[in-house]
Amino acid sequence: MQNLKLGFIGAGFVAHFHARALCSVRGADLSGVFALKGTEDLRDYAHRHGLGECTIYSNIAELCMNSDVVAVLAPNFARIEIVEQIADAVQAGAELKGLICEKPLGRTVAEGTRLVALAEQMNVPTAYFENQIHMKTIRKALDQLAPQQRAMGPIALARSAEEHGGPHEPWFWDPTRQGGGVLSDMGCHSIAASWFVLTPVGKDVRFLEPVSITADCALLKWGQPSYRQQLLERTGVDYGKTPAEDFCTGTVSFRNPETGQIVRAQFTNSWMFDKQGLRLMMDGLGPGYAFEVNTLRSPMEVFIGDAAAEAVADAEAALEKSTASRGLLAVQPNEADLYGYADELAEAVAAFREGRDALLNWRYGLEITRLVQAGYLAAEEKRTIDLTDPAVQKRLESYNSLIAQGRGGEMLFA
Ligand SMILES: NC(=O)c1ccc[n+]([C@@H]2O[C@H](COP(=O)([O-])OP(=O)(O)OC[C@H]3O[C@@H](n4cnc5c(N)ncnc54)[C@H](O)[C@@H]3O)[C@@H](O)[C@H]2O)c1
Repeated sequence: MQNLKLGFIGAGFVAHFHARALCSVRGADLSGVFALKGTEDLRDYAHRHGLGECTIYSNIAELCMNSDVVAVLAPNFARIEIVEQIADAVQAGAELKGLICEKPLGRTVAEGTRLVALAEQMNVPTAYFENQIHMKTIRKALDQLAPQQRAMGPIALARSAEEHGGPHEPWFWDPTRQGGGVLSDMGCHSIAASWFVLTPVGKDVRFLEPVSITADCALLKWGQPSYRQQLLERTGVDYGKTPAEDFCTGTVSFRNPETGQIVRAQFTNSWMFDKQGLRLMMDGLGPGYAFEVNTLRSPMEVFIGDAAAEAVADAEAALEKSTASRGLLAVQPNEADLYGYADELAEAVAAFREGRDALLNWRYGLEITRLVQAGYLAAEEKRTIDLTDPAVQKRLESYNSLIAQGRGGEMLFA
């Protein structure tokens, strides 16, 4: 069977991560790209690593006509227009075997719902990219503990955290373009990772029913005058006027529909984590057993003294969102593999080859968007949100958080 022709929409940070991941995935080539900037760099990387032609297309229609699978790796605010253009291309005859969308599926439940409707109208299998569920460490821990889960009962508490010092591009900081702050950007990862960890062995990813959510959002670092000024100068975003949260935490309760057992997911996310760089930390606690993952623990570390610090060309080559270039540094030799990008690509390619959705499809992505938005509602109203209440479900369909509206000051400065 021929390799699937993969077309990327977007050639920025995450597109490069996926290109690195593709180096260890069989059955797919990076055949084309469309983006507003960064295409030449991505094409050159693809050529250097033998990933495929990576032809640069000047519009989405052409990319779709020449691809088997299209991956939406562009900013959140461009999702709807991009997927509408993909739908037009399919209508015009593009024969797609799969559609990929990066997290978050939508900035609101309404946007996510629109994307699911478009995918269903196209009748093309989908993959929602949530890399952390594909992390080898998480999968291995769950495999290792499967006999304990069966004998003792399932994991009852899962805690997931993703933290770093703040995003790389200005649009992430602007809540009106990104869809919020760190809860929208990274809470989606942590909620999904814990939901997955809590799911009993052999059950579907949506088997556990979300019943309630609590959340707290705060602006702990980037609202302080000197950091606000730094941010304004660096990104053009003024957190004095349109602030977003740089810290969030909360819990989601899930019900096992067969046993009635309630299990709980705790999430913590921040853009004020001034340590070595990105840290993902997860643990799962069951009766009599547990696991823990911390991506800052590497078997490799390097030391760079003051005298040699001038020679450092790119500290981020050692670790995503690296904040230091001297001292004792954690280095992760294959981050695309560590964070699950390679496995999520491989799983999607295998699914599309068989003509089916990936493990996580866009409907699943919509459920994550719903939980994130319910988190904002809980934080705004300072109460536990009952996710089973039809009135809450109705409200979420048209809900847009104060923070995403650019009115975050009303809650973050209150
Ligand atoms: N899974 C993860 O851990 C992870 C990490 C980073 C980003 N992401 C997600 O990936 C997406 C992209 O993020 P990024 O960090 O690569 O952003 P980025 O700003 O680094 O790159 C965005 C790319 O999209 C292009 N682009 C912008 N508007 C476009 C449009 N209308 N049509 C086509 N291309 C357009 C830009 O030119 C650029 O090439 C976001 O949705 C983000 O949430 C996921």
